[in-house]
Order: sequence, then C-alpha cells, then structure tokens
Amino acid sequence: MKDILTLGIETSCDETSVAVVKNGREILANIIDTQIPIHEKYGGVVPEIASRNHIEAISRVTKYAIQKAGITLNDIDVVTPTYGPGLVGALLVGLSYGKALSYAINKPLVAVNHIHGHIAANYITYKELKPPFLCLLISGGNTLIINVKDYVEFEVLGKTRDDAIGEAFDKVARVVGLSYPGGPKVDKLAKEGTANINLPKTFFENSLDFSFSGIKTAVINIEHNNKNIKKEDLCASYEKAVTEVLLQNVKKALKQTGANKLVLAGGVSANLFIREAFLNLQNENLQVYMPDIKLCTDNAAMIASAGYYNFIYGKKNNLDLNAVPNLKINAY
Ligand code: KG4
Repeated sequence: MKDILTLGIETSCDETSVAVVKNGREILANIIDTQIPIHEKYGGVVPEIASRNHIEAISRVTKYAIQKAGITLNDIDVVTPTYGPGLVGALLVGLSYGKALSYAINKPLVAVNHIHGHIAANYITYKELKPPFLCLLISGGNTLIINVKDYVEFEVLGKTRDDAIGEAFDKVARVVGLSYPGGPKVDKLAKEGTANINLPKTFFENSLDFSFSGIKTAVINIEHNNKNIKKEDLCASYEKAVTEVLLQNVKKALKQTGANKLVLAGGVSANLFIREAFLNLQNENLQVYMPDIKLCTDNAAMIASAGYYNFIYGKKNNLDLNAVPNLKINAY
C-alpha cells in the first residue's frame, strides 16, 4: 500500500505547529513555534495576541516543516488542521490556512479534534498501540476519562465538573509566584518539597467525574493565610492530592470497563509525579502507555496522526468548515 503523508496544522492555543507524519505513526517533521514568552508577561494566553502571532508564524512554520521533511507540498496526501476545541480566533488561522492549502494543492481536507490529537500522540510513541483502551486525558482545557473503542470512536465516561486539571496547576503556580505556564514549574518545585499538607480531595459517588476547584481554592487560602508555608511543600502536597484523585477514578473506570490498556494523554501527562504513579499501576493484567514527554503538550504531529486515522476511516471536510471552540470528543 502507498504511504500516506498527512500535514498536521495546530493553532488552537499558543503554539503554531506544523508537522508531516507518515502513515499516522512516523514523524518526518514536527515544527513548534511557541508563543509562551509573549504571553508570560500577561500571566496567561491573551486570545487576540495569540491569533495575531499565529498569522505571522503559520507560513514560515509550514515552509520549514516541508523543508525539514525533505518533501515538496505536492507530496502531501491529506491536509489535517485542528478545528476545535480551542480559542476561536487562533483556530481560524490554522483552519483557514489548511483550507487554502488543500484547495491550492488539490488534496483532501480532513479536520481534526484537538483532544483526538492528544490521544494520537501515543500512536507515534508506541508503534504497536491499537484501540480499544481506556484513556485519561489531562490537559489545560480538559480532564476526561474516555473509553477509546476504535481509532475514531470515543465514549466519555468521566469529566471535570469545573476546572480542568491543567488550569488548576496553572492557578496554583500563579499563587506561589511561578510564571505561566505554571504546570512544569510546579512539577519542578514539588521535587524539592514534602507532601505534608492535607488538602481536600473531591470524589463523586457512582460517577467518574472530577472537581478541582475545591483543592485549588484550598491552596490559594493556605498560601494567603500562612506566610511561612514552604512553596515546595505546597506544590508537592497539591501534586500528590490531585494524583490520588486521578488514580482513584481511573481504577474505578478500569474495573467498570475491564480494560487491559490504559493510555495517558494531554499536557499534564508530562508531569513526572503523575507519570510515575500511573506506571506503578502496571501489572500482568494492565499495560500503561504515556506519550513521549515532547508529544504531551500541543504539537502538530499528534494532529497529523489523528488526521491520518480520520482519513482512513473516510472522513472528509468541505471548504466551508468552521472552527468549533467547544468541540466535544464524540464529534471527532
Ligand atoms: O495539552 P496542553 O498543551 O494544552 C491543551 O490542549 O489544553 O496542556 C497545557 C497544560 C498547561 O496547563 C500546563 O501547565 C500543563 O499542561 N503542563 C503540566 C506539565 N507540563 C505542562 N502540568 C503539570 N506538570 C507538567 N510537567
């Protein structure tokens, strides 16, 4: 069978990324132009500024990805931009660029759900991984337990009722004086601390849902009311408490579904404490997978991989497709 090259385009938040992936599994190029230094001074992503920077970067990043892959534009078989969820103005830059490219080179447009992309990061890391499996998706915008029935068939078993876990990480970071994006910095600081502070953990009976607003508020109050508390200990305690919540719900979901494969996905799956805790779950009845650290946070290779599977399963979009800021995983 002929190789299929997908061109992934990702602009849902603050990274402009373009990638070329072969047969959904092999990266030929994965260029990521991050805007983090631009948004850092505002303490978070400013949507309008993100859109403007995507506009400036997208052509350059695409040219570089094509060059790095050692191909020409005509070698691309399918154009696969992210169309949601994310910031609408930011999404529209990559989606519009992808549509124009698809028209110009006369190759199909196959749009990708960003959450689907995070899951697909694992197909690049593990060439042998195939659905079905249970997925814990932990990112800046989502916290989901998903039953991945097939490459393009998803069932949400649990979700956050308030903050996404990455959002809570970033808030905790800000409270202890760490700059955006705080997740990786909390991860680092926690290594130097002891988890000696008791924090509230929320569990729901007969549900796999999450809630992180209570623990986030508790951290804020502790930091404001106890000036001599060690930031390292607060970060370590927070990380331990949220990991316990994730573990408990995932164990429940594994029992409920009988799954023998567990896959982590999303930016927060780069967290070293969480990775180790989930690796410890592995036994003769359960194989645990997590993306290469470089593929956990936003990148276009994961989008190109998901786009490949959408294409193989017959998905094709028209050029009037719009961005969908609150796109759900079930609408792949
Ligand atoms: O998946 P992602 O790049 O964006 C979304 O699609 O939402 O996730 C970004 C989130 C941010 O909240 C960031 O702080 C968090 O992932 N993050 C981490 C780590 N690396 C990134 N959180 C905890 N520990 C990390 N090492």
